[in-house]
Amino acid sequence: MLSLAAMAESITIESSAPKAIKYEELIPQLKSLVGADKHPIAVMANVAAAIHDVFAFLWTGFYTVEGQELILGPFQGPVACMRITIGRGVSGAVLAEGYTIVVPNVDEFPGHIACSSDSRSEIVVPVKNAAGVICAVLDVDSTQLETFDDVDKKYLELIYYFLENKL
Ligand code: SME
Repeated sequence: MLSLAAMAESITIESSAPKAIKYEELIPQLKSLVGADKHPIAVMANVAAAIHDVFAFLWTGFYTVEGQELILGPFQGPVACMRITIGRGVSGAVLAEGYTIVVPNVDEFPGHIACSSDSRSEIVVPVKNAAGVICAVLDVDSTQLETFDDVDKKYLELIYYFLENKL
């Protein structure tokens, strides 16, 4: 008999749906996939892979907080910067400020770190642990300008559903 976890190891999304609907379809499937698993690397890896697959972004992944740095975590996409100092780049700014930053045009964000020259726009979402402390960021990059808006912000911020108590 297949376990629920084994049965849930696929994600099915209507590819022609508006992005809000895609997120609405994705979230319960991700919840089912992740289930009660508390291993942070496994959870971050599948969350990144699912978002990346559904939306075909350039880069989707996590940086985790270690001391005064963000360290590259599970991701999908081109190779990326391995360490970001707090306060540097969009990710570092999110860590310093504590809220999501949407960047419509990376060339207009002072201090943006260009891990890939193909990146044109970006969103970075803080991930908080059970104590409310930011322990990671979810960073998503697009090859197009102005890809991310309040819809992405709303749904990507729900990432805590999967990561709370796991980091
Ligand atoms: N552009 C990010 C760096 C990480 S990569 O996009 C993967 C930043 O400025 O923080």
